[in-house]
Amino acid sequence: MNAFNSYVKKFLERVQTAHFLAWPYGELVNERDRHADVLSAPLTLHCGVTLKNRLVKAAMSDSLGDGAGRPSEQQIELYRRWADGGAALSIIGEVQVDHRFAEKPGNLVVGPRTDDTLLRRLAEAGSTDRAQIWPQLGHAGALAHAPISNPAGPSALDLDGLRCDELSLAEIKELPTAYARAASHAQAVGFGGVEIHAGHGFLLSQFLSPLFNRRSDHYGGSIEARCRILSEILQQVRHAVGDDFAVAVKINSSDQLDGGLSEADSLTAIELIDAESVDLIDISGGTYFPGAPASSDRRSAGPYFIDFARRARSVTHTPLMATGGFKTRAEAAEAVASNAVDLIGLARPLALDPDLASKWTRPGGGDPSFPEFDAPPPGGLTAWYSMRLTAIADGIEDEWDVELSDAIEAYEARDAERVDTWRRAFEVSNGEAG
Ligand SMILES: Cc1cc2nc3c(=O)[nH]c(=O)nc-3n(C[C@H](O)[C@H](O)[C@H](O)COP(=O)(O)O)c2cc1C
Repeated sequence: MNAFNSYVKKFLERVQTAHFLAWPYGELVNERDRHADVLSAPLTLHCGVTLKNRLVKAAMSDSLGDGAGRPSEQQIELYRRWADGGAALSIIGEVQVDHRFAEKPGNLVVGPRTDDTLLRRLAEAGSTDRAQIWPQLGHAGALAHAPISNPAGPSALDLDGLRCDELSLAEIKELPTAYARAASHAQAVGFGGVEIHAGHGFLLSQFLSPLFNRRSDHYGGSIEARCRILSEILQQVRHAVGDDFAVAVKINSSDQLDGGLSEADSLTAIELIDAESVDLIDISGGTYFPGAPASSDRRSAGPYFIDFARRARSVTHTPLMATGGFKTRAEAAEAVASNAVDLIGLARPLALDPDLASKWTRPGGGDPSFPEFDAPPPGGLTAWYSMRLTAIADGIEDEWDVELSDAIEAYEARDAERVDTWRRAFEVSNGEAG
């Protein structure tokens, strides 16, 4: 977009949000005001943290770590941008509790080698204007990035495109401490909460899933046993951070895979989570299992998990968020107004327009236009959106107009370049590249 077009776009947005154009259209204005009212209502969580509105920047692995697990200046700018854009909360995707099992070499790591000054600056940048910023604490398990790790999950697997070892019982017993240590660390550097990532086929989602978890000890078998490690982690995290810090969980409504986590089992897991001290349950679905449908690559119309969220309401008192598929303000307002969920998680919409939360909480609104791609390859959309986050971080999103294939190439090249940095920083001598 050239400078003139960008100026016109900003002018029109301002005029729209200032009501000038809207007032003659009675009912339309009322409807728009109602949407703004619903979405701008604050929500106070059990821990006492108040979210200033109902719009959350869902976890996105932004690949903007510096390659050694530390925040980059670009990443700090990205989160400042979302806070300035009005999101009540931004969740930083894939912040690793153990550098040995990262999802990508652009992830952050919260651990002994972390640069706390940079983490503090990230927490500060993301919390301007009463916004909250929480790291999503992750461990990729079987889906750890092979060039920098030896992937290991609940059970050993040797499938096309996915090979992993089995975690020993002793290694499983160490997990609650690792998550609790990372959560305390996040709290110490100024974040207001954490989201425990138990979705999308990463470690805790692998434990929940019969496809990944074939254990015969008390961490495998029934859904109660498959959920045990998640419950133990939640207990230890809460013990470490105290009552005033937000603890959320992201969980799949189902894996959308034959033999994976079913909706019925997910509802039981939500009931079990409800018994812990949790402030928010973020509902998603799908996995990054090779060839499987991932939520971030999905293109179907309408919010994906609202029907499931309505069913989850009957088994939990914990506030609910649904992430996935929201494309219009009307859909978001309807999901909250109908009491299906308390919060709306937005990933791609906030990658398209980092100011969307401001627009959707003011009269006038304005929905993003979504790009259309012909037959994108698996992971292609996620790569394109990921590169768009870099454009936002660099302040060039208005001019950014990149072909899918170029975005995928740039995304893959950046990760490949960072592998050596990661291996040096963490003295990795194993992994496929070793
Ligand atoms: C670039 C990109 C990176 C993502 N990384 C993560 C992640 O690190 N953790 C996570 O839980 N979900 C991740 N997701 C999935 C989103 O949180 C969300 O569940 C999914 O994109 C569907 O929501 P949407 O329709 O609003 O995009 C990612 C999505 C995108 C587009």
